Amino acid sequence: MTEQELKKLLRSMSLEEKVGQMVQVTGGFLEEGAVITGPAADAGLELSDCRLAGSILGIAGAERLRKIQERYMEQHPHHIPLLMMADVIHGYQTVFPIPLALGASFHPELVKKAMEMAAGEASSAGLHVTFSPMTDLVRDPRWGRVLESFGESPWLDARMAEAYVRGYQGDDGDLSRPGRLAACDKHFVGYGAPVAGREYNHAELSEHTLREFHLPAKIAAIRAGTACVMPAFQSLNGVPCTASQKIVRELLRKELGFEGVTISDWSAVGELVAQGAAEDTREAAKLAIEAGVDIDMMSVCYARELKGLVESGEVEERLVDEAVWRILTLKNKLGLFEDPFHGAGPEQEKRTVLCEKHRDLARALVAESAILLKNENEILPLSPEKKTAFIGPYVDSTDTCGSWAIFQNREDTVTLRRGVMEGGWGAHASFCHGCDVLENTRVLGFGVEEVFGESEDREERIREALQAAKEADGVVMALGEHTLQSGEAASRGDITIPHHQMELLRQVAAVNPNVVTVVYSGRPLDLREVSACSKAVLAVFLPGTMGGAGIADVLFGKTSPGGRVSMSFPWSAAQIPVYHNDYSTGRPYDPAGAEQKFVSRYLDMPNEPLYPFGYGLTYGRFQYSPVRLSADRMKAGGSLKAAVTVKNVGSAAAKEAVQLYLYDEKATTVRPRRELKGVKCLYLQPGEEAEAVFEITEELLKIWDRNMEFLAEPGKFMIFIGGDSRTDNGAEFLYEG
Ligand code: NOJ
Repeated sequence: MTEQELKKLLRSMSLEEKVGQMVQVTGGFLEEGAVITGPAADAGLELSDCRLAGSILGIAGAERLRKIQERYMEQHPHHIPLLMMADVIHGYQTVFPIPLALGASFHPELVKKAMEMAAGEASSAGLHVTFSPMTDLVRDPRWGRVLESFGESPWLDARMAEAYVRGYQGDDGDLSRPGRLAACDKHFVGYGAPVAGREYNHAELSEHTLREFHLPAKIAAIRAGTACVMPAFQSLNGVPCTASQKIVRELLRKELGFEGVTISDWSAVGELVAQGAAEDTREAAKLAIEAGVDIDMMSVCYARELKGLVESGEVEERLVDEAVWRILTLKNKLGLFEDPFHGAGPEQEKRTVLCEKHRDLARALVAESAILLKNENEILPLSPEKKTAFIGPYVDSTDTCGSWAIFQNREDTVTLRRGVMEGGWGAHASFCHGCDVLENTRVLGFGVEEVFGESEDREERIREALQAAKEADGVVMALGEHTLQSGEAASRGDITIPHHQMELLRQVAAVNPNVVTVVYSGRPLDLREVSACSKAVLAVFLPGTMGGAGIADVLFGKTSPGGRVSMSFPWSAAQIPVYHNDYSTGRPYDPAGAEQKFVSRYLDMPNEPLYPFGYGLTYGRFQYSPVRLSADRMKAGGSLKAAVTVKNVGSAAAKEAVQLYLYDEKATTVRPRRELKGVKCLYLQPGEEAEAVFEITEELLKIWDRNMEFLAEPGKFMIFIGGDSRTDNGAEFLYEG
């Protein structure tokens, strides 16, 4: 449609129709014979509220969505097509490792390819928009949704944000092309910083922390062209984001120049009442539209109240028109007025979903993101000639895709046992469970709560596991959290592996010390005891459809593990938040120095996390040359190059994630001791060497300064290049300004 035609369409719509465009309900409510039940019914939503809804969410499938679209368009006064949205977070039916693991790959180019594939699958199944990426920076692993974040580095989060948006929308951003999906960056802003890690809790962020840490990835997503942005559920510095003109209208739209569609989080407009920000649904609707929220996801507020608010003159119709214009523009960019199905169909679906190419990349990404945290005496990789007992509840589990993989079929998931057997490594392997992921648990809605107790055949299962461990040369323990213990509404105070699994690990390690533990989780866990009981520890997060195959590749050395810690693994939960880019203090603690009293430290635990940012072992061994700078001075607007030569002096081919860190030695605001500013992934054969060259631009030096401006301040800077955030391989230069 031309812009003229679209404008004409908008002018011809009734107020009721326009309000309808701003309402989103779950897809099921628009299907034939629909009945509204559950929380939506409790909130008072009726089928009449859904009749003109401009978008739906949460369901997929080309046939199913086609029926809904046809039925809807037929009865719609202007036959305007629906937008089909859903949470496709790390893959549709080919489920890639969770975003936290993708962050750990340190490899945005591969992540971009994965998201291209996710878009291809989802759009073949009739979807137009995904509620992804989640670009919330995280520092508190008690929060269950760290699973959906890329980690604690603004720089890495920003690169992943771009990779996601460009993967979904294409480099040219042409959404009309079949196979493309419109992105929705979320949550704007501060959802990743809930106080005490408790889900939906409010967030407090200083302007400084907001600008330097939480906004960069959001800005990257906007610059990459994200079609939509979702204001966050929670309140930031006392004001719910859904009702904040300062956050949505001023910061997001005016300052950052975002021109696309904003969509509330699930029932967030209605929740303004519970938050005490609005008297009732009428005031909630008024606050949200005035803040700049275009679509109300699953609350009754817009559907029930907007028309009346406009008619009474309490809300200007102009605000409705602006929102609807943005929604229609998105539909037009997707080409829905020409093809309301966006190229979707059962044939395309069959060709695309779970195709070999997608499964191959999913498998490769398991190895790319698996972090080898410990490997004493190089116990890994395993020899298939030796007897290995695979023990633990994750040996045969297909529940390894995480709570967001809502369109997966569990039977498509490759288990660890299957990965080992199909890889041809199983001749001397045995397999048993030892225990369940959780035992005697109480299910609380979407979450679970562990209740200590024992299942009936516990003794027998442990006996079987210990027997297998005794008979083997070595043991692989496949342990971890339940998938329902991470994700939305799954904050935990105790971030360890469930206690009965730990008991199994202790007993197995007592009869066979050659233990390799594979840890499945949606967050960095406290792994102190796991590490003490194991010779090797491999963190695989929730590895997705090809999990078992990718993990077996790593265990038997077909691939070297390539993951790096993108969110610090704390020494204990008491250390939280602990992260690499924390500030210098006037009284730093030097762990290598003599006993010191009046310094910044804990008396009873280390300052440093158990596994720091950037850390991860491989089957290679890498030697770094000193850092070479192309100049030791930089002028305003200038740049210089920093390079190292990296050599694999080990005996296996491996990936090295070469990391560049920056330290601004003196500035008007206190600076982090290390900030990640670049990554180059090298794949080196034994004996092979390569150069990693980074360009240091003025842009990289900018800080949010004392006058609240982004500026590069003249003075000395240190550059560090190495294999993790502790590297001291540095060189200094002067920025002259
Ligand atoms: C709530 C989540 O916070 C949001 O990220 C998600 O996209 C919506 N639900 C829709 O499922």
